[in-house]
Amino acid sequence: MNIQIREDNSSTLTEYAETPMTFTVNRMLTVKETGFGGMILEEHRVDPPYTKDYDACSGGGPLTWANRWDLSNWVFLSAFSGDKRLGGAAVAWNTPGVFMLEGCRELAVLWDIRIHPEYRGEGVGSNLFKTAETWAIGKGCKYLKIETQNVNVPACLFYQKQGCVLGAINTFAYPDLPGEICLMWYKDLTGNQI
Ligand SMILES: CC(C)(COP(=O)(O)OP(=O)(O)OC[C@H]1O[C@@H](n2cnc3c(N)ncnc32)[C@H](O)[C@@H]1OP(=O)(O)O)[C@@H](O)C(=O)NCCC(=O)NCCS
Repeated sequence: MNIQIREDNSSTLTEYAETPMTFTVNRMLTVKETGFGGMILEEHRVDPPYTKDYDACSGGGPLTWANRWDLSNWVFLSAFSGDKRLGGAAVAWNTPGVFMLEGCRELAVLWDIRIHPEYRGEGVGSNLFKTAETWAIGKGCKYLKIETQNVNVPACLFYQKQGCVLGAINTFAYPDLPGEICLMWYKDLTGNQI
């Protein structure tokens, strides 16, 4: 597939939000503690499977972001094949009040990445991820940080494939979502290994 990536500002968020943020949870990772040896993630089948919609859980999705943060330092990437929108990614940088940015200009956050279900597994996400990296490097960032959850195994495998490493596991992050664990991934943008 011929994939073109466009860099937009927040004026295109209505189109951006048209790509569904849903996926099927049919497997999940659980944390097995091994004392001072660390933690091991084990994959388990989820039966029956269920559908998770990030936009529904996060209180409304992309159309609510501008009410909460100043998006002027964010970039919104859109992937197209001809006129067909395949998906998008949002990268946050240098924005007061976005706690994931840790007040650090050398860090960018891949806030969102979503591919239309019909076009998943065709390299669209990888294209968007690479464009997000290039954009962050252009802002002088050394790291790209991404949050996902243990119930999103495809996303974890995707981030690992992009060269990210798992930097933090927080089993207490989501008190309203029993069983869900926060997994924080990091991509080194300096060319070094983390
Ligand atoms: C996660 C997501 C962005 C990946 O995008 P994509 O375009 O399907 O990914 P790509 O085709 O570029 O895949 C690149 C690599 O990631 C891994 N990967 C992607 N999807 C995978 C899956 N379902 N199962 C296993 N590995 C997967 C593979 O290693 C793949 O490489 P390969 O094709 O050589 O095997 C996409 O599945 C999606 O939109 N999911 C729903 C929204 C979401 O969960 N976003 C992330 C929130 S944290």
